Amino acid sequence: MSETAPTIFIIFGITGDLAGRKLLPALLALYSKQLLPQQFSIIGVARRPFNREEFRQFIREHINVRTGQYREEDVKHFIDHIEYEQGVFDNQDLYTRLAQRMENIQTRFKQCSNKLIHLSVPPNLCENILNRLAIAKLHVPCADKFGWTRILVEKPFGNNIDGAVKLEKLLGSLFAEDQIFRIDHYLAKESLQNILTFRFVNSLFEPLWNQKFIDRIHIRLLEKEEVGIRAPFYDQVGALKDVGQNHVLQMLALIAMEKPVGFTAETIRKERAKVLKSLEIVSGKALKDHVCRAQYYGYEKEKGVIEGSPTETYFMIKCFVGNSRWRNVPFFLESGKALKESKTEICVYFKSEDDPDRENVLIFRIQPDEGIKIRFWIKTPGFPMTVEPKTLSFKYSELTGHMVLPDAYEKLIYDAIAGDQTLFASTDEVMYAWKFITPILQSWANIPLAHYKKGSMGPLE
Ligand code: BG6
Repeated sequence: MSETAPTIFIIFGITGDLAGRKLLPALLALYSKQLLPQQFSIIGVARRPFNREEFRQFIREHINVRTGQYREEDVKHFIDHIEYEQGVFDNQDLYTRLAQRMENIQTRFKQCSNKLIHLSVPPNLCENILNRLAIAKLHVPCADKFGWTRILVEKPFGNNIDGAVKLEKLLGSLFAEDQIFRIDHYLAKESLQNILTFRFVNSLFEPLWNQKFIDRIHIRLLEKEEVGIRAPFYDQVGALKDVGQNHVLQMLALIAMEKPVGFTAETIRKERAKVLKSLEIVSGKALKDHVCRAQYYGYEKEKGVIEGSPTETYFMIKCFVGNSRWRNVPFFLESGKALKESKTEICVYFKSEDDPDRENVLIFRIQPDEGIKIRFWIKTPGFPMTVEPKTLSFKYSELTGHMVLPDAYEKLIYDAIAGDQTLFASTDEVMYAWKFITPILQSWANIPLAHYKKGSMGPLE
């Protein structure tokens, strides 16, 4: 990306879990692949009172712990591009200093630079930061044609539907839609992007992709890890808002959407949004029958979780997409923490006319062991006329050997610099996802909270 103008990355929440685990390693990976603009600078913003050396040490520890795959020299050069601006997000002085620091960098670059402002903070802090950025005029690009300003906003987008509407309004008043990048990092996972290719490039399955031939679809995002150091944040959010409102629904959108005309960012986002809009609201009696929420035993004892917390660490929802393609096909959405294994996959079960136990299944494995499997039936060799299941499979590792697939955040940052919004959620997608989730959340208290053992398959085991 050497022809790109100099770019300044401003990361609010640089000392947070996400920045340490995903953003910094992704930036380092892009840097080492020479995919960042030739001239770039990163300004990390957070509250911790680090001096320059302490900050560098902090960054180094995070990057090394997570990757350990770069030459010491490259890591050092990368860290040389990072500066720290310490301050409290609701103090306007911070933004004045930030403006000055950006000015200094631009003087060094000798030109107006692109700015990518990343809000890697919980949703309740976004409004304040945006308002203060606006007072300091940091949302205004420094030149009309050259030197854009873009904003990246992390999920969950708002704490609830009202918060999301408010946030949208505020963002819309400061930025044009093509400057707003709403992150759902699942959209950028290689194995998820491949769903559209698989569906629309191979003519084999598309004729079968409807209620006539598909019996049900199961979308699972299962995690072995407990809530860990994110417990104080997680306890306020819960599984449904943490991954249901976004990652799981985006997986559903990709598997159920219509073929977009021309495969542009606009048409793809429109088709994903249409699916989310068509989701039948789960409410009333259906809530008890179609929704399960649960918490793992011991969750209450996690540091940062309030005593007697009713927060769910697991959910399962049965829902329907109300259009002619998917009429009466149940979609099961499931996610949980502290389960037996970490596994994200989408299983498409085909109808079997003769024997319901002998169905064909198409499995998209999103992670780990990214790939695709098809279960089919063969005649068992020999005299008796019996059948048995076999699998056709493809694994990404066969293609890439030891090469690790690029992390979703690498792709997101790369695309945000390029201005490609395909892998970012549109305002419609975010709103329709909230519209589907909100009635469930409003009735959460009426749905009994089940419990499950850590390391088990969940409450429905
Ligand atoms: C995040 C959630 O968005 O996604 C986490 O906040 C979850 O709770 C994570 O663990 C899963 O992402 P990945 O890429 O590790 O599957």
